[in-house]
Amino acid sequence: MEWRIIVPVLCLIGFLPVPGNAADNSTTNSTTNSTTAFEFNIVFHINDTFNETYSNMADNNTITLKNKIITEVSQVYTPLKNFQRFDILQFRNGSIVVDGKLYFNSSDSKPSVANLTQILNNGNFTFKLLTNLTSITEVTTTAANTSTTTQAVTTSAGIAVYNLTFKMTGNFTNDLSNMSSSAATNLTNFVVGQLDGVFKNFKSYKRTFIRQFRNGSIIVDAGVEFDKVSSPSATELAKALADGVRNGVVKLPIDTQTIQVTDSTGFTANKSPVLASMLTALWMTLASLLLSAVMH
Ligand SMILES: *[C@@H]1O[C@H](CO)[C@@H](O)[C@H](O)[C@H]1NC(C)=O
Ligand SMILES: *[C@@H]1O[C@H](CO)[C@@H](O)[C@H](O)[C@H]1NC(C)=O
Ligand SMILES: *[C@@H]1O[C@H](CO)[C@@H](O)[C@H](O)[C@H]1NC(C)=O
Ligand SMILES: *[C@@H]1O[C@H](CO)[C@@H](O)[C@H](O)[C@H]1NC(C)=O
Ligand SMILES: *[C@@H]1O[C@H](CO)[C@@H](O)[C@H](O)[C@H]1NC(C)=O
Ligand SMILES: *[C@@H]1O[C@H](CO)[C@@H](O)[C@H](O)[C@H]1NC(C)=O
Ligand SMILES: *[C@@H]1O[C@H](CO)[C@@H](O)[C@H](O)[C@H]1NC(C)=O
Ligand SMILES: *[C@@H]1O[C@H](CO)[C@@H](O)[C@H](O)[C@H]1NC(C)=O
Ligand SMILES: *[C@@H]1O[C@H](CO)[C@@H](O)[C@H](O)[C@H]1NC(C)=O
Ligand SMILES: *[C@@H]1O[C@H](CO)[C@@H](O)[C@H](O)[C@H]1NC(C)=O
Ligand SMILES: *[C@@H]1O[C@H](CO)[C@@H](O)[C@H](O)[C@H]1NC(C)=O
Ligand SMILES: *[C@@H]1O[C@H](CO)[C@@H](O)[C@H](O)[C@H]1NC(C)=O
Repeated sequence: MEWRIIVPVLCLIGFLPVPGNAADNSTTNSTTNSTTAFEFNIVFHINDTFNETYSNMADNNTITLKNKIITEVSQVYTPLKNFQRFDILQFRNGSIVVDGKLYFNSSDSKPSVANLTQILNNGNFTFKLLTNLTSITEVTTTAANTSTTTQAVTTSAGIAVYNLTFKMTGNFTNDLSNMSSSAATNLTNFVVGQLDGVFKNFKSYKRTFIRQFRNGSIIVDAGVEFDKVSSPSATELAKALADGVRNGVVKLPIDTQTIQVTDSTGFTANKSPVLASMLTALWMTLASLLLSAVMH
């Protein structure tokens, strides 16, 4: 089998001083199931063709792929004394993007993102890792939070991160506050897929990730990453998204006047309102229906 999978694995290491969190039954129990102290989101890319069946985590094909990757990736982290397990949350297209998590207990110090990145990139796998696309994010989870707060800090060098916020039509449900719920996962996949469709036109585009969904109707807080060397301006990004919504490339019922893009200097670009056309109204209705279908 030829491997051309892009697997972004997102590893989340958060500090969890809470005892007794349920040890979830995941694929690997090879190490310990003691309380998790550190959690990392890891995204990595595998140079292989994405098969649509990989979108369905219950598919046999997908389970086979998932187990294979989990076994191999767990092996490279096993030398870390406090490593607990590696799990895959989902695969995404592009070639194959893997979103996963790494768990560590408190028997050793918190591993550094640089160390974790290097370990993965040096791994000897049966699949081809696109090492320059590996991204590890540290997420801090505080005990006070009921829903998971993902305060993403991107540590990869040479990456420009923009904060993107917009409002779209739709009924906010409480489970969207919990980014690990099935509703939030489904909506994340859909929204990221639509945004990829427009941002990939920028050569330096790397990825979009969702920080959170908020009520009113549905407010999306996202991060958009580009290679720093040729990153677009916040204004260009806001315009590209607004144009994408107006011409139907982005099938999301976004109110274009609510689009805000903030760059690393804190400069915020708002897309200046343009009169809605009949065509835009049609796209919005279709996008609204599509979104309702995604959200059941
Ligand atoms: C783990 O799996 C067992 C059997 O499949 C189940 O009884 C148990 O509730 C599961 N534990 C958790 C924390 O999901
Ligand atoms: C992992 O779980 C399986 C099934 O529950 C069990 O047979 C196996 O012994 C466990 N392995 C370890 C190392 O605990
Ligand atoms: C793992 O968790 C189970 C259930 O909570 C417990 O019975 C078992 O002793 C734990 N294993 C280890 C190695 O901590
Ligand atoms: C990815 O796979 C394709 C097809 O096998 C190959 O041509 C290409 O060089 C690979 N890219 C990398 C970065 O390995
Ligand atoms: C995707 O997987 C299905 C199920 O195994 C298979 O029938 C199909 O040929 C695959 N498609 C591609 C493009 O590999
Ligand atoms: C998946 O694999 C299991 C075990 O190999 C088999 O029993 C089941 O029928 C398969 N499911 C599908 C949809 O192929
Ligand atoms: C990761 O950190 C451990 C402990 O500090 C160290 O022994 C190991 O060499 C580091 N690995 C890499 C690849 O930097
Ligand atoms: C990678 O793993 C394969 C198979 O286990 C082995 O034959 C090969 O020597 C390893 N390569 C390196 C550089 O460790
Ligand atoms: C990553 O490497 C691949 C192949 O070596 C290259 O085509 C691609 O442009 C690189 N991407 C970045 C962001 O450097
Ligand atoms: C929101 O819910 C109301 C009442 O359940 C329903 O009439 C409306 O169509 C829903 N809107 C969307 C966008 O799903
Ligand atoms: C998420 O998507 C899966 C697969 O399409 C579906 O079975 C599930 O019901 C969805 N969950 C929610 C909360 O919409
Ligand atoms: C982007 O959003 C994150 C999370 O809300 C925040 O910590 C960060 O400061 C923001 N960055 C900019 C440039 O506004």
